[in-house]
Order: sequence, then structure tokens, then C-alpha cells
Amino acid sequence: MKILVTGGAGFIGSNFIHYMMKNHPEDSIVNLDLLTYAGNLESLKGLEDRRNYRFVQGDIADRPFVMKLFEQEKFDWVVNFAAESHVDRSIVDPGVFVRTNIMGTQVLLDASREFGIKRCHQVSTDEVYGDLPLDRRDLFFTEQTPLHTSSPYSASKAGADLLVLAYHRTFGLPVTISRCSNNYGAYQFPEKMIPLMLTRALKDEPLPVYGTGENVRDWLHVEDHCAAIDRIMRDGRAGEVYNIGGHNEKTNLEVVRTILKALGKPESLIRFVEDRKGHDLRYAIDPAKLETELSWKPRYTFETGIRQTIDWYLGHQEWWQHILDGEYSEYFRKMYKM
Ligand code: NAD
Ligand code: TYD
Repeated sequence: MKILVTGGAGFIGSNFIHYMMKNHPEDSIVNLDLLTYAGNLESLKGLEDRRNYRFVQGDIADRPFVMKLFEQEKFDWVVNFAAESHVDRSIVDPGVFVRTNIMGTQVLLDASREFGIKRCHQVSTDEVYGDLPLDRRDLFFTEQTPLHTSSPYSASKAGADLLVLAYHRTFGLPVTISRCSNNYGAYQFPEKMIPLMLTRALKDEPLPVYGTGENVRDWLHVEDHCAAIDRIMRDGRAGEVYNIGGHNEKTNLEVVRTILKALGKPESLIRFVEDRKGHDLRYAIDPAKLETELSWKPRYTFETGIRQTIDWYLGHQEWWQHILDGEYSEYFRKMYKM
């Protein structure tokens, strides 16, 4: 099987490539990534010389370039991780989210039609469902929950999902979509909550918690996400959406306190800062369809996953220090005024 992985230099894409190299060495992968601020080839170290892996730098929204790549490579499958992925950045600059997340997806869909791709998998997010109230812990997102987005990021992901489903219904393109809860684990860019808190706590720097810290996220270890995508691509039904989550709901304050405790750092590092605009209250996935149809189950609990993640960041200081020393420091100063 020859697989195009887009966005493979990002957090989940790089984990997915490592997962596939380990579990399916018979497949070959072309990793197409633009290397935006979030793309990092250091996350793929050690794979450069593999005969079944190749990196190509390019933009999924660049139609002539993508068409040429499809023509040359004759892919069997496409899995699309490439995206602008950070809600806070989408509040500052929505345009690039529309371009990459919607228009880029459309280019991949057109190329997949033209070159007879056998399975196109779109990596989406639970954020397309909007949010749930904090006082109704009995409510969960199912695949039938209406799309009801809050941020320019989630709106652009929902737009892409609708296009993917339209290409299935209208043109018969063999697509699947997965909508996952918040991921954590190795190689996550330190603008996202868990690595941001972790790397700052390690340096005894203040930890910016938005609003009251009571917002709830449903956390899934990235390796469990990768295993689920692999399962859906191989055995999922074309035209279907699958929710991915592991019932690990935590308030942001609970997560921050867990990190501080594990590192032996004081809670006095916590700073409550101005809330995010339009901040979603609670995400919670019902993964029953994936569990019953495809027998998927997460391997990590939040407790084992966060321990593994903390150990990874402790052991890979150079990986994240490079990022903190680069252009990201300017983003942090502007964004947080800290
Ligand atoms: P990320 O920001 O870490 O990585 C995105 C990657 O896409 C980067 O390597 C970047 O260089 C690349 N990219 C951006 N624009 C591109 C373009 N125009 N052409 C080619 N490459 C481009 O994101 P992530 O956290 O790894 O998320 C991957 C996917 O999973 C996204 O589609 C996101 O919406 C989805 N998702 C993420 C989470 C999460 O918790 N991180 C949860 C559910 C779903
Ligand atoms: P984030 O990692 O940005 O993921 P998402 O917004 O896609 O869920 O944020 C996770 C939660 O943490 C979210 O409720 C916002 C909150 N948060 C903070 O409190 N402080 C921060 O500095 C960041 C980045 C996020």
C-alpha cells in the first residue's frame, strides 16, 4: 500500500508515521508537509533513510503541485492531517484556516477523484460539534450530533468535513472521517495546553489558565488516536464518520494540577488570565460506534498517558527548547503579554 500522509511533520501526523513504520513496515509513506511554524522534521528523525519513507515539502492548497505529485506517486490511500490547528491563532487570523483547512482539503479531494484513490481519510475534530454545557455530564457528542461550531478553526474543519461527505455522495469518492477529542503525547507543539503548561512549569514560569479553568476537555493519548485512524482506514465503511475518544474528561485546572504535582512544582505558578473569546465549555466524545463496529479500545488511561508524556518531555528537552528559542517566543509574548 502506498499512502500519502499530509501534515506528517506536525504533532499527530509525525506520531502516525512512526506508528505506521512500526506496525505496517510493508506499506510505504510519502509525507507531504508545508513546514509551517508547526511542522518540524526533528519529530521524524531516524526515518530519513528508510526505503519506504519519503518527505516532500509542499502546500496541500497548491493545486498544480498536488496534481503532479499524485500523478507521479500513484497513491492507494490518502490521510489528511495537514491543517492549521490552534484555536487561538484562528481568532487572530482566520484566513489561513479557510485556505489550508477547506481549500487544501478540496484540492486533495479533487486529486483523489482524478487519480482513483481507494481510501481518503479526513482527520477531523470533536470541535465541529461545538460544546456541551458544564452541568449536563450525561450529554456526549455522537456522530449524529449536529455541527455547531464556535471558532474559525472549528468552522473551517466543519467546512472540510462537509466537502468530504459531499464528494462521497456526489462522486462516490471512498472517504472516511474521524472526529477525535483533544490529543496529548510526544511531539506536541508547546502552544497547546498540556505541553505549554509542562514546559513552563519545568522552568518555574507562570502558567496562564484561561478564565476560571473549569472548561472540560476529553483527553486521548496520541498513540491511541493513531491506532484508531489505522483501524478506520482499513476496516471502516466508506462514507462514514467515526468519533474517537477515551472517556477521559478533565477540567483544565485538574490537568494543570496533575502536571504540577508530577513535577513537584507549586500551585502558586498558576495565573488566571483573560478568557479565550468564544471559549468552548465542554467536549465529550461517545466512541461507541468505533468500539462496537471496529473493536477499537484505547490503551492509555489519562494517568498512564500523562506520566508517559511528562517523561517524554523531560527526556527530549532539546526538541522543545529549539521551538521555544525560535519564532514561537514572539508569538507567546504577543499572545499572553507575559
Ligand atoms: P499540527 O499543527 O501539530 O500540525 C499540522 C501540520 O500540518 C504541520 O506539520 C504543518 O506544517 C502542516 N501544514 C499546515 N498547513 C499546511 C499546508 N497548507 N500544506 C501542507 N502541510 C501543512 O496539528 P496536529 O495537532 O498534529 O493536528 C493534525 C490534525 O488533527 C489536524 O487536522 C487537526 O485538526 C486534527 N485534530 C487535532 C487534535 C489535537 O488535539 N491536536 C484533535 C483532533 C483533531
Ligand atoms: P488547547 O490545547 O488550545 O486545545 P483546544 O482549544 O483545541 O481544546 O486548549 C485546551 C484547553 O486549555 C482549552 O479549554 C483552553 C485552555 N488553555 C488555557 O487555559 N491556557 C492556555 O494557555 C492554552 C493554550 C489553553
